[in-house]
Formats: sequence, C-alpha cells, structure tokens
Amino acid sequence: MAKPVKRTAVVGTGVIGSGWAARFLGAGLDVAAWDPAPNAECKARVVIEAAWPAISRRGIAPGANPSRLTFHAKLEDCVAGADLVQESAPERETLKQDLLSEIDAANPTAIVASSTSGLLPSILSAKMSRPERMLVGHPFNPVYLLPLVELVGGDRTDPAAIDIAAAFYKSIGMRPLPVRKEIVGFIADRLMEALWREALWLVNDNVATTEEVDAAVVYGCGLRWSLMGTFLTFHLAGGEGGMRHMLHQFGPALKLPWTRLVAPELTGELIDKVADGCAEQAAGRSIQELEARRDDFLVELLALVQKYWPEAEGRPGRL
Ligand SMILES: NC(=O)c1ccc[n+]([C@@H]2O[C@H](COP(=O)([O-])OP(=O)(O)OC[C@H]3O[C@@H](n4cnc5c(N)ncnc54)[C@H](O)[C@@H]3O)[C@@H](O)[C@H]2O)c1
Repeated sequence: MAKPVKRTAVVGTGVIGSGWAARFLGAGLDVAAWDPAPNAECKARVVIEAAWPAISRRGIAPGANPSRLTFHAKLEDCVAGADLVQESAPERETLKQDLLSEIDAANPTAIVASSTSGLLPSILSAKMSRPERMLVGHPFNPVYLLPLVELVGGDRTDPAAIDIAAAFYKSIGMRPLPVRKEIVGFIADRLMEALWREALWLVNDNVATTEEVDAAVVYGCGLRWSLMGTFLTFHLAGGEGGMRHMLHQFGPALKLPWTRLVAPELTGELIDKVADGCAEQAAGRSIQELEARRDDFLVELLALVQKYWPEAEGRPGRL
C-alpha cells in the first residue's frame, strides 16, 4: 500500500484541478500538473494567483509558494514521482476510466483519487490493474477554501488507501467525510441535486426568478445551513421539544406534494430563462469579480464557523 503523501500530482487543471493545485501549494507542497489543453498552464496559474490572497488569509504553510507548481508535457512525467494523484478530468466515465488506467501504468504505488461529482469508483477503476489504491476524493468549489472532501471507496478499494487519503486531506486543512456506501452522487451532491431540481421547477413554472430563488436561500435557509446543516437546524425548529416535536408537528407535511422531485426538461426556453436570470443578477460583474467577492466572504464565514463550533476542531467528518 502507498506511503504517506508528500508529493502530489494534479491531472486535469480546470476549475477543480487548479483549485486542488492552489490548496496543495498553500499547504506548502510541490505540485506536478498535466492537462491536455494547450492554454491550461496559463489558465491554472491565473486561477492560483487570484486565489492566493484568500489562501494567505486562511493561513499558508511555511515555504508555500505558487512557484512550486510544475507543468509537464506528458502525463507519465507528471504522475511518476507522486504519492497522491488527484484526477480532475471532465465528468465522462470512459474518459476517466482510460485516464485512470494510464495513471495506473505510469505510477504503480500512488494513491489515486478522482474528483468525480458522482460517478462510482468501482466503475471508474475498472481498467486499473491496481484498483486497491483508487478512491473518490470529491471536493467542493472553491477547493482551496471549502474544507469538505467526500471519500468513497469502490468494491476493490483497500480501506488503508482511504485512511491514508483521509490523513493527508486532514493534514492540509480539509474535513474528510468517508461515505459509508458507494452510491452515485454521494452525500452532498445528492442533497444539492434535490434543491437544484426544485429551483429549476420554480423558474420553469414562473413561480420565481433565479434571483428570487437565490434570495430564499441566501437570506433564509442558507445562513443557517452554513453553521448547523439540515438536521441540527430542524432540531431547533421543534423548540423545547427538539427534533421529536418537530417531526410530530411538521411530519404530516412530508406527505403533501410540495416538491416535484423529478427534474424538468432542460428546454431551450428554460436554459435561456436560467442563464439570462443569472446574467441579470451578475449585473455586469465578471466571473473573476464574483469569485473574489465569494472568496472574501468564505474566509470570514469559515472563521465564524470555527468561532461558534470550536469543539468541532479535529473531528474528521463531523462539524
Ligand atoms: N465544477 C465543480 O463545481 C465541481 C465540483 C466538484 C467536483 N467536480 C468534478 O471535478 C472534475 C473536473 O471538473 P471541472 O469543473 O474542473 O471541469 P473543467 O471543464 O473546468 O476542467 C476539466 C479539465 O480537464 C481537462 N481535460 C480534458 N480532457 C482530459 C483528459 N483526457 N485528461 C485529463 N484532463 C483532461 C480539460 O482541458 C480541463 O482543463 C469532474 O469530475 C467534476 O465532476 C466539479
């Protein structure tokens, strides 16, 4: 089984891969990178530079420096010396299977983690000769700030690989959450997907604009969720009686058909409505401007969560 992680490689440096690179660099690690797109290196370096102020405010490790990122022309050279390879290629099953098999051939010992948002590790590792060191390490955007990483093993994953990955991610300031069963969508995306489907229906049915749906999250449930999540939030909704009383009081509403559950057809009209709505909300602000504002906000929010849950420190997978 692989050794503790000292050297990292990121394969695929789009939104998520460059976010991983930024987090690894901020933790004072060397990062080897590979991406087949011709302008990938330039784009990744721009992302890392933009992320660095927020990373610095969260606290960087001694010796951390964006210059410790090395881009390689060949995948084999990128992954050869790594203890952990983080794959963040496009979300296509066959592409990832082939890529993971190439990584497998080029480096027989590293932990191989896929950033997939919901594909199953047993299927992704199908073409690997050494699938026991492969797992899903599913992060959240922006990876360099959000701590959660869901860990999912496949039917041939060695539990020791999950332990090594968990220890590594924890050592770089993340909160690894091992998922007990291998299911598509894991935990967080399964939750987000449900909300996303409902949000699309509300816009599709002209109940609300994209801005109104976002306001309902931002000024209501979202504020609470950032500290307590769904269950503890509802525990308080029951007053003195807590969750048990809450379930008695609001349980019957669960039988009412409030939700649509099945996603609406993504017609051209719905796509226009959603995309135009978001453009209107952005009000001329560029993606980079919005990202910078989001990062500043998250840095302060993370400090607040730590302030109000100090006892949660050092409990992996728990608040
Ligand atoms: N975007 C998110 O919010 C998010 C969150 C969590 C996980 N993920 C997962 O991360 C992975 C990457 O998503 P993304 O949003 O960064 O996508 P992206 O499109 O931003 O980046 C994908 C990158 O992969 C590169 N690529 C193309 N073919 C490749 C190949 N054969 N081998 C290696 N790299 C290749 C592309 O050039 C591109 O730079 C996906 O599995 C996705 O499900 C995304």
